[in-house]
Parts: sequence; C-alpha cells; structure tokens
Amino acid sequence: MTAQDIVPPLLTPDRLDEVEGWFFDADRFVFGWLLTRQRDQGTRGDLLELGVYKGKSAILMGYHAADGERFTVCDLFDADEAPDDSTATEMRVYYPTLTRQVFESNYLRFHRRLPTVIQGSSSEITSHVPARSCRFVHIDASHLYHHVRVDIAAARELLTEDGVVSLDDFRSPHTPGVAAATWEAVLTTGLKPVVLTESKLYGTWGSADVLRDALAAHLTTHPTLWGVTEDVAGHTLLRVHAR
Ligand SMILES: C[S@@+](CC[C@H](N)C(=O)[O-])C[C@H]1O[C@@H](n2cnc3c(N)ncnc32)[C@H](O)[C@@H]1O
Repeated sequence: MTAQDIVPPLLTPDRLDEVEGWFFDADRFVFGWLLTRQRDQGTRGDLLELGVYKGKSAILMGYHAADGERFTVCDLFDADEAPDDSTATEMRVYYPTLTRQVFESNYLRFHRRLPTVIQGSSSEITSHVPARSCRFVHIDASHLYHHVRVDIAAARELLTEDGVVSLDDFRSPHTPGVAAATWEAVLTTGLKPVVLTESKLYGTWGSADVLRDALAAHLTTHPTLWGVTEDVAGHTLLRVHAR
C-alpha cells in the first residue's frame, strides 16, 4: 500500500463551522427538517443551490441528495466571469478570496463526490437543469434585484409541484434588491411564504398549509427555536426565532 492509497476520513457535519460562509443554526435546522421530511414522505426530486461561496450550505445539502437524485450547484466563482459590471463589483467587494478550487476542496472534506458544478451565471441555470425536476432550490447568489427576480423565475420553472424555494438575505439592510424581488414574487407570481428565519424566506408555489403547520408543531418541542404565525398579504407564515 502506498501513501496515495490511504483515503483520509471524511469530516462529520458537526465540523461545518470550519468552512467559512453564512449559514446559521436556524437555517441548518430548517434545511434538515424540510429535506428529511420530503424524503420521509416519499417526495423525490433533485436539489439545486445558486450561489455556493466556499460550500457551507452546499455541504449540508449534499447529505440529503438520495440515490438517483442529482445535486447541482451554480456559482460564478470568479469576478471575471460576472455577467455585468454591478455583479463584478459585488464579487470583488464581498467574495475576494473565492475560487472554485476552494469550494471543491472544502466539499470533498465532507463528501466523497462533488455535486454537479455549473460555473457561470445563475441566469443560465434553466439550460442546465430540467424543468419541474427539483424538490428544493436554495437561492443565494446575486443580491441585485434584476438577477434575483430571474433566479426566482427559474426556481418556479425548476421546482416540482410542492417543491420548496429558500431565498437568502430577503431582509438584510445591504440587500434591498433581494427583498424587492422576494415580495414581488409573493404579490405577483403566487409564491406562498411558508417560513421565515432571520436570514431566509422559505416558500412554495404548491401546498403551504400542511408544511407550515407540521413545522410549527415540531418547533413546540425544539430546545432552542420557537415559532409564531403571522398573516401577511393573505398568507399565514411561520416566523422562526431563537429562544
Ligand atoms: C452569499 S454567497 C453564498 C453563500 C453560501 N451559500 C454559504 O452558505 O456560505 C453568494 C455567492 O453567489 C455567487 N454569485 C454572485 N452572483 C452570482 C450570479 N449572478 N450567478 C452565480 N453566482 C453568483 C458569489 O460568487 C458567491 O459565491
């Protein structure tokens, strides 16, 4: 046996904080709960992430892709790949140390195989992923209004009937474009907001009520999170907060 034959052990999910990124406890919980519930209920479908940065949320999603389900991630990885000047500026300000190689080596510390990696603009994603194939789409790429509304339209096209979209940074002070695109989708495209955390809005163009009520019931016994419902623009959504 040579040194090259020795396969290093994989890191376990509790080591996720060794990866730089923005993916907080409440959302780790909601991702895990949603994706596990879909699997337990026999909901099949692919997983998609737009905007991976160094892989923090992608690594967690990777644990939930069952045999036969494809996990695709999409990122520019490089400001020189940006589709316009405003995106290139955003890349240089927020992600100066990002490379595809950093993402891939982080991912392979936790998983034996990479997901399908699309290097390019999220606006092209519908030419890589089949319509109505995804049970879960995480939108966490551009913060610019004109891109986010295209990402949301793509999610609508790519999701299965009761598939769920998660929209990052829908309320941060530095991301008004995400907020505008998110609530525009709620008010004009039929996106139903189901769950809100501090960072993300989870919604569906399918059935919302059963999903929301199941999570609300589950949270009554959660040690660190609690939920409360609120009616907003004709929708009953669940706000999730830390105790
Ligand atoms: C907020 S970070 C993603 C964070 C990551 N999901 C995590 O959990 O740490 C946003 C990512 O989106 C990428 N990005 C920005 N604009 C994009 C675009 N138009 N198309 C594809 N990726 C884009 C950036 O390169 C960056 O890696």
